[in-house]
Amino acid sequence: MTRISVKVDGTTYEDEVEPRLLLVHYLRDRLGLTGTPVGCDTSNCGTCTVDLDGVSVKSCSVLAVQTDGCAVTTVQGLAQGGELTALQRAFHERHALQCGYCTPGMLMAARDLLKENPRPTAGEVRHALEGNLCRCTGYQNIVRAVLAAASDEEVPA
Ligand code: FES
Ligand code: FES
Repeated sequence: MTRISVKVDGTTYEDEVEPRLLLVHYLRDRLGLTGTPVGCDTSNCGTCTVDLDGVSVKSCSVLAVQTDGCAVTTVQGLAQGGELTALQRAFHERHALQCGYCTPGMLMAARDLLKENPRPTAGEVRHALEGNLCRCTGYQNIVRAVLAAASDEEVPA
């Protein structure tokens, strides 16, 4: 077992973990943060995307031990005080989800894009989200929601 200290969604955790434990399983099974789903076994789907020290990563491709001393933000750390972020509101109001399974990863990947490029084109949104798969929406409303959040369009509460 290896000792780690990691801040997740603003809370610091000190834990003993097996070196082979994946970050996504640490988040879900140890910390109970099941808002980050597992959608594949092959690092293809992007549902497990989280922010690791400011960089968007697929948490099924990262070992928990690699996060020692790091800060992780999951989809559950986005809303503050019960207030959704503009991006979350845009997903809701633009119907950018159906079953919702891909949504945590889409939100985290889109958030990463908007940090780097606050005014992306539709093509840039599609390019940024190409590592995230959705089986339901056909992607159109997801792209629209990201563009709406980026353009500060009024997103009804
Ligand atoms: S569960 Fe991580 S990419 Fe699919
Ligand atoms: S909303 Fe169902 S997989 Fe994307």
